[in-house]
Amino acid sequence: MSAYSDLCATMQARPSRWLVTGVAGFIGSNLLEHLLTLGQTVVGLDNFLTGYQKNLDMVRAIVGEEAWQRFTFIEGDIRDLDTCHKACDGVQHVLHEAALGSVPRSIDDPLLTNGCNIDGFVNMLVAARDAGVESFVYAASSSTYGDSPELPKVEDKIGSPLSPYAVTKYVNELYADVFARCYGITTVGLRYFNVFGQRQDPYGAYAAVIPQWFASLIKGETVFVNGDGETSRDFCYIDNVVQANLLASFAAGDARNKVYNVAFGQRTTLNELFELIKEEVVRHKPEVASATATHRDFRAGDVRHSLADITRARTLLGYEPAFDVRQGLRLAGDWYAANL
Ligand SMILES: NC(=O)c1ccc[n+]([C@@H]2O[C@H](COP(=O)([O-])OP(=O)(O)OC[C@H]3O[C@@H](n4cnc5c(N)ncnc54)[C@H](O)[C@@H]3O)[C@@H](O)[C@H]2O)c1
Repeated sequence: MSAYSDLCATMQARPSRWLVTGVAGFIGSNLLEHLLTLGQTVVGLDNFLTGYQKNLDMVRAIVGEEAWQRFTFIEGDIRDLDTCHKACDGVQHVLHEAALGSVPRSIDDPLLTNGCNIDGFVNMLVAARDAGVESFVYAASSSTYGDSPELPKVEDKIGSPLSPYAVTKYVNELYADVFARCYGITTVGLRYFNVFGQRQDPYGAYAAVIPQWFASLIKGETVFVNGDGETSRDFCYIDNVVQANLLASFAAGDARNKVYNVAFGQRTTLNELFELIKEEVVRHKPEVASATATHRDFRAGDVRHSLADITRARTLLGYEPAFDVRQGLRLAGDWYAANL
């Protein structure tokens, strides 16, 4: 058995109380789904800034009413300390996902990004510390590698941030480290690399590339590629990210108070990604076979290449990503075809 299946069995035998912030968002709602399925009790916090009630409704439909009774939702903002204290009350494990994502959004509105991602983050650390939680696992980001040209990315070698968003995610790591040193709280940062999967929002100016392209192809709209398409990313399917979060929540000894790359460990260019997504959409809409992509300018603040070394997560957490890009796109494609 893998470390993850062992952990799932232990969790089912000894359920805990969890807090998931950003629970109405893409990653938060997937964490909620898995936790409830594993018999856990969950408090969720969200202000619906970029999350949706429909994500919570979908989880409810998937897990069923018995499991749903173990969920308590708080509509509120992590920029309000009292709300964070209320949410952390009686909680053993915090999975902190609430933040404003997107590099371009942070360039358009650095103040809002700073407020949610730094002020809100410190509020959550203070509330988690005061509640005496066992673990505080938070969403860090591959954007922290900034202008470092090294590939693959190894946790201890970062460059200078390329966007306000990247600054906020790096500051999160610094604060988590300092809270571990000053107050003895256990924190683990997970540097996600381009996560994708069910319930990721395809709409709006700041949508991520995979849901955006699924939506465009399914609706017969133009797919835009920023730059020459040779930009590459380490795309990571959502279930791998859920696995990393649960393993990190029970990190022990030297595995605590560290940051980890969370990715699959494989690089895909945007040109390759377009072909892979098209293949999936063609299964549902054969007429898409002749679709081509339209190239436009590179986007400010974007890194050119991204590929993770996941050795640290493998070695210290027992992380074994179970879904590669192709398998993940198959599942995501089926979901978008059924839900768009
Ligand atoms: N999706 C990715 O590829 C990726 C990559 C790196 C890091 N991350 C990080 O993972 C986390 C989750 O991202 P996601 O993709 O699920 O995004 P998402 O936008 O779907 O979810 C974020 C959730 O946080 C909520 N939120 C935002 N500000 C809030 C506030 N002030 N108070 C309360 N709730 C608030 C939103 O309403 C939303 O439901 C974020 O911290 C993001 O920066 C995501």
